[in-house]
This record gives sequence, C-alpha cells and structure tokens, in this order.
Amino acid sequence: MIMFEKVNKITQEVQAFDIQNKEALEQFRIAYTGRKGQIADLFDDIKNISPEQRKAYGHEVNRLKELALAKFAQMQDQLGASSEGQRKLNIDFTLPPIPETLGTRHPLTVVREEIIRIFERIGFNLSEGPEIEDDWHNFTALNFPENHPARDMQDTFFVEGDMLLRTHTSSVQVRVMENQKPPIRTLSPGRVFRNEAISARAHCVFHQVEGLFIDENVSFADLKQTLYYFVQEMFGPETKIRFRPSFFPFTEPSAEIDISCLICKGAGCNICKHSGWVEIGGSGMVDPEVLKNCGIDPEKYSGFAFGMGIERITMLKYQIKDLRLFTENDIRFLRQFESL
Ligand code: DAH
Repeated sequence: MIMFEKVNKITQEVQAFDIQNKEALEQFRIAYTGRKGQIADLFDDIKNISPEQRKAYGHEVNRLKELALAKFAQMQDQLGASSEGQRKLNIDFTLPPIPETLGTRHPLTVVREEIIRIFERIGFNLSEGPEIEDDWHNFTALNFPENHPARDMQDTFFVEGDMLLRTHTSSVQVRVMENQKPPIRTLSPGRVFRNEAISARAHCVFHQVEGLFIDENVSFADLKQTLYYFVQEMFGPETKIRFRPSFFPFTEPSAEIDISCLICKGAGCNICKHSGWVEIGGSGMVDPEVLKNCGIDPEKYSGFAFGMGIERITMLKYQIKDLRLFTENDIRFLRQFESL
C-alpha cells in the first residue's frame, strides 16, 4: 500500500510543480520525467510489488508518467524551449559548409576517352554496334570457318537461334563496311562478352576498342606507323612497339602488338614475365575475303584493322594488378582517379 501512496504523492507534486522558466522546466525533467527521475524509480519498484497488485500499480505509474510528459511538453511549448526552437537558435552561420565531393570518372572511361582522342587527331571517327549480335557479324563475315573453336560454347554466350553476345568488337567492322564506302577510318570501343571464369586476369565482360582503316593503297607500313603513333601518345615517347606474326581468320597477314614493359622498361620483371614485352592487342591487313563479304572490292581497296583490350591498357598504364577491381566499385580504388 505504501507504494501506492508514493505514486499519489508524486502525482500531486507533478500537478503542483510551478514551471515559470526554462530552468524550472529542466528541474522538472530531472526530478520526474528524466531517465533517473522519480517516475523511473517507481517503475524500478515494480519488482517489489506483490503479483496481485502489480497490474494496478503499473497502471497508476503509467498514468503518472503520461501526466508528467504532457505537462512537460506543454510547458516546453509555452516557453519556446522545444528542441525545434533550440535547433533553430543553435545554427552557427560562421561554420564552413560541408564540402561537395564530386564523383570521379571510372578509370576505364578515362582510358577509353584518351584512346579516342589520340585516334581522333589522325582522322578516325567513332562507330558503334549492338552488344547482342548475330552469327554473321560476329563470326561468318569475319571468315570464321563453320567449326572454328571460338564459336564453341566455351567462349561464346549464345542467346537464341544464331544470336549471341558479341565476343569482340570486330563485329562493328563488318557493320561499318556494309554501310559505308571507303575511305573508312573508324574506331569502335565497346563491351564484349566471353564465357570465362572471373579471376585477376580474366573476366566474362570486358572492353575492347577496334580500329579500321580502308582506302586505296593502304599497306602494312600504314598499320605499323599508326600503332606506333598510338603507343607513343598513350604510354610515352620511350615506349617501344613490336609486331609478332600471328593468326586471325579476318586478317592476312596478322600480327600481335607488343609494347616494351612499362614497369621494368624492358629489363624483365613479373608483369612482363621477364620478357621485357607485354601484349596489348591484335592487328593485321583486312582479309580480301572479309572485304568481299562486306561488299567492298578487294581489287580496289585494302585496309588494316586492330583490336585492343581497354582493361589491359588501363592495367598497364596505371599498374593495376587485378582485373576485378574495375567492377567491384570499391570507393578506395575509384578515388585514386579523382583528378583524371
Ligand atoms: N578480335 C580480336 C580479339 O578479340 C582482336 C583483333 C585482332 C582485332 C586482329 C582486329 C585484328 O581488328 O585485326 O581477340
């Protein structure tokens, strides 16, 4: 019974408490509604109440709590001391503003744009093709024999019928040649897809940039000079280039493009597997058969083409060791390209 009396006594006190100013309001809060106030104590006492009376006691204390909170809120409003009012007054107009942080361009975007700028200067325009391609543009027109292993399920994501996700940007070559007359000088950057397990060195989605130059009397010397110019502009004047004989169904002759290792400058290191050279792409003279497939007279015109991996070039240029960093969106990685 003593506990009920205590609740009554505090209820009377709460009702009688005269709140004239903010100090009194704060005293009221400390004495009654605060975390260590008397009402909190009453709740603590609930464990000392006999089980039969507990419910009634809880009821009384709750009523008191509501009464005290209502009185507090009302007086707070009247005295203009609500937290809203306080916050308004507390603004410090002299504080410096929170800095606006700008987003950054993705390193692959930075490098793609740089590649475009370099080729633009020697008269290349831009062209695009679909990422979902048909067999003709991705393979057949490019002289891939019917049973060529690159058509195998291992490498190609087939969509439906003869539709597939393009495995290289060379498909855009075909589209450009079908639709334009020489002279053609075009660059086609874009996404390509291959059915590969993701690792530090391979990904199933990556980027290539394709180059195509068709005109009368285009020779292998033009191919070499064009790529030499590109490599010097992209990687610096000390960079060497070499062409390694290779094979692609759509070029004859074909060559792989290597540059001197940027890390060890050709002396040999882990990145270049101690050869002093790293590969950046493939190239060659467009096979007359491909010209014919695309409606261009191989007796009159010749041309060269090349294809390079944008990830590969970016990794070499910025010494990035793991391809997965490009797609993980780790802000600590992306921030490093803030000023580019
Ligand atoms: N399409 C080739 C690939 O994905 C790269 C390539 C090689 C493109 C030689 C070319 C070229 O235009 O002439 O590996």
